Amino acid sequence: MQKFKEIIFASHNKGKIAEIREILSPLGIKVLSGEDIDLPEVEETGKTFEENAYIKALAAAKEKNIPCFADDSGLCVDAIGGKPGVYTARYAPNRDFNKGMDKLLDELKETNSSNRAAHFSCVIVLAYPDGNYKAFEGRVDGAIATQKSGTAGFGYDPIFIPTGFNRSFAEFDSIEKNKISHRGRALQKFINFLKDNKGSL
Ligand code: IMP
Repeated sequence: MQKFKEIIFASHNKGKIAEIREILSPLGIKVLSGEDIDLPEVEETGKTFEENAYIKALAAAKEKNIPCFADDSGLCVDAIGGKPGVYTARYAPNRDFNKGMDKLLDELKETNSSNRAAHFSCVIVLAYPDGNYKAFEGRVDGAIATQKSGTAGFGYDPIFIPTGFNRSFAEFDSIEKNKISHRGRALQKFINFLKDNKGSL
């Protein structure tokens, strides 16, 4: 374990970057991201969330020669064999998530199944320049609604109803969503790891 004052979050997603900076700044670790530095272009060729997060984190760690972390996430729907899964971002035509939600609702209708169970998964991987890594997983179970509702959040939030609630993620505010979301849970495990190591990586 070495004491690093900086860590790179291998992402260009402004929402994720702001959230992660806010959470990690009390630990005295400066978070650099795609907003501050050039990151290597990588193809997400993995078959699991962990593989894709590792691909992104490792490419940055090797190029910058310091530990880097990245996340990968998606929606898995039971009645269609866990799809779209790692292909969630690409499942939406032209990354238009409104169209992606329509596509998913149609696909689910075609199965004639009453099973609407689904979950969001997120894996955060912290990779070291030598190829070693640690993975932190978060998951939230729920169901796919029959129609969209709510305007908050992003992606597939308007059609995902977390277990124990009767409203979609797009009807949660961000603090409430982060407490139970897949990304919030994965991030909490990552933060606990950083705290346990007192900022050493
Ligand atoms: P990535 O982790 O940035 O590759 O995101 C995968 C895709 O999953 C995103 O483009 C979103 O469409 C979807 N997704 C991931 N997390 C969420 C979430 O919290 N709410 C809604 N959609 C999500």
